[in-house]
Amino acid sequence: MRSGKSFYVTTPIFYVNDAPHIGHAYTEVAADVLARWHRQAGDDTWMLTGTDEHGEKILRTATANGVSPKEWADTLVEKSWRPLLETIDVANDDFIRTTEPRHEEAVQTFLQKLYDDGFIYAGEYEGFYCVGCEEYKQESELVDGSGPYEGQKVCAIHSKPVELLQERNYFFRMSEFADRLLALYSERPDFVQPESARNEVTQFVKQGLSDLSISRSSFDWGVKVPWDDSHVVYVWFDALLNYITAIGYGDDSSDKLERLWPGVHIVGKDILRFHAVIWPAMLMAAGLDVPQRVYGHGWLLVGGEKMSKSKLTGIAPTEITDTFGSDAFRYYFMRAIAFGQDGSFSWEDLSARYQSELANGFGNLASRVLAMVTRYFEGSVPAASEYSDADRHVQTVVADAASAADAAIEKLAIHDALAHIWTIVDELNGYITEQQPWVLAKDDAQRDRLATVLYTVTEGLRALAVLLAPVTPVATDKLWTALGVVDSLGALADQPIRDAGRWGQLPAGTVVGRLEALFPRIETTND
Ligand code: MSP
Repeated sequence: MRSGKSFYVTTPIFYVNDAPHIGHAYTEVAADVLARWHRQAGDDTWMLTGTDEHGEKILRTATANGVSPKEWADTLVEKSWRPLLETIDVANDDFIRTTEPRHEEAVQTFLQKLYDDGFIYAGEYEGFYCVGCEEYKQESELVDGSGPYEGQKVCAIHSKPVELLQERNYFFRMSEFADRLLALYSERPDFVQPESARNEVTQFVKQGLSDLSISRSSFDWGVKVPWDDSHVVYVWFDALLNYITAIGYGDDSSDKLERLWPGVHIVGKDILRFHAVIWPAMLMAAGLDVPQRVYGHGWLLVGGEKMSKSKLTGIAPTEITDTFGSDAFRYYFMRAIAFGQDGSFSWEDLSARYQSELANGFGNLASRVLAMVTRYFEGSVPAASEYSDADRHVQTVVADAASAADAAIEKLAIHDALAHIWTIVDELNGYITEQQPWVLAKDDAQRDRLATVLYTVTEGLRALAVLLAPVTPVATDKLWTALGVVDSLGALADQPIRDAGRWGQLPAGTVVGRLEALFPRIETTND
C-alpha cells in the first residue's frame, strides 16, 4: 500500500581509518529502524549509508600501515564496514563511498557551480587543525592536554594536540548565509533536533560566521578542485555532498533527487554543526532545498566519555551479536537509551533486559500463546464470540499503542515508540494471567470464552509482530511464520504498519505452527 509520501534517511558516512565500534552501529540501527518503519508504512523510502574515505586522517593511517589510501579504504570497507551492516541486520538501499566516480564527479560539478556563481574565492588561512576531527579549531575550543601532552593545547574531543597550518586555500563565502540560517532555525523549529542541539547551533551562528576554507594543497588525497588541480577539496565539503551525489545530483538521467530530496539526517551530536550550519549554507548557495531535518543523537559512553577506538574504549558489535543476536542488539540500544541523549552501555543492563523484556516478556508470550492454540484448538485459531470489557481493553491498548508509536517515530523518538509497543506485551501477559485460559479449558461450558481469549491474544501477537518488525526483524519473521498468516495476510515486511492496531485482521481458522524460542536462554560462563 503506497502512502504517497517519501522518506529519505541517511547516516553519517564513516571514516575508514579504523573498524566500527558499537557507537557507529548505534547510528546505523537508528536510521535502519526509521527506514524499516517508513517502508512498512508504504512511504517511498530510501536509506543511505557509506564511507568517508578522503582527507588527511585516512592518508596518515594508510601511510603508517605502508599501503596507499585507496588500498586501505578498500580493505576496511570490504572487511569491516560492509560486514557491519549484516552483523546488525541493516537493510540499506545504497552504500556510497566517496572515492566512487559517481561521487567525485558530482562533487566537482557542485563546486564548479559555486565557483561560477561567485561563492568561492582564493585566500590565505592560518589556524589550528585537528586531524581527528578534520576541522580547524578556534582557540576557545581547545583544552589543556594531560599525560604525554601536558603543557600543550589539545582538541577537546580527541585529547590530542592540534597542528598550526598556514595555507593558501579556496574559501566558501559561508559568512553570507548567517542571517538565512538563523531565519531557518526560527521558522522551522524542528529543522535541528533535539531542542538542546537547536539552541547550541543557533547560539553558534548568532556569534557570526566566518568564511570556510574548502581546499587543501599540502597533500593530494581527495577530490581535485576542478579549476585548480593543485588543490583537493576539504574532506568535510566533499563528504557532506554524499547525501545528494548518492541520489543523482549532477546526473540528469536520475529522478531520485527530485523524488527523495530533502532528506532526514541522523548524526552524532559531535558532527551536528557541520550538518546544521555548513551543509544548509552549501545547499542555499547552490539553490537547493535544505534538509528536512538534522537530528543529533547522543553518544555511547564508557566511563563517562564518548566511546572511541582512538581512546581504546571501542567495543566491536560482534562481541554483542555473537552472544545475544542482532535483534537484541537493535532492541537494547533503541530501548535503553533515549534517542537524543547520551547513554552508558553495560553488559549487566543488556543481559537483564534481554532476559526480562525479550526472553520472558515477548518471547515467552509468543510461545505460550501458540502452545495454547495448539493444545486447546488443535492449532487452529478460534473465532472470538462475545467480547468482554477485558477483551475490549486489550483492543484499546493495541490501537492506542500503534498510533502512539507511529507518532513517536514521526518525532524520531524511537525509545518512546518502543515503550508504547511494550504496553501491548505487558497487557497481553497480564490478560493471560487474569483470564487463566488453562482453567477455562477444563470446563466445556467455557469453550466460547476460551476461544475469545485465545483469539484476543493471538490477534494481539499479530499486531506486535507488525509493530516490532522494524526493530527485531529476525524474531518477528519467525513469529510471523509460526502464526501461519503468510498466505492470508502476506509477508511481514508488507504489513501496513500504520494499520497495525486495527483489530480483527487475523483470520479465524489460521493454522499456527511451532515456534522455537525467539530469545533463547544465554549460557554465561558462571552458569
Ligand atoms: N566522516 C564523518 C562524518 C561525515 S558525514 C558527511 C565522521 N565519521 S566518524 O566515523 O568519525 O563518525 C561517524 C558517526 O559515528 C558520527 O555521527 C559520530 O557521532 C558517531 N559516533 C562515533 N562514536 C560514537 C559513540 N561513542 N556513540 C555514538 N555515536 C558515535 O564523523
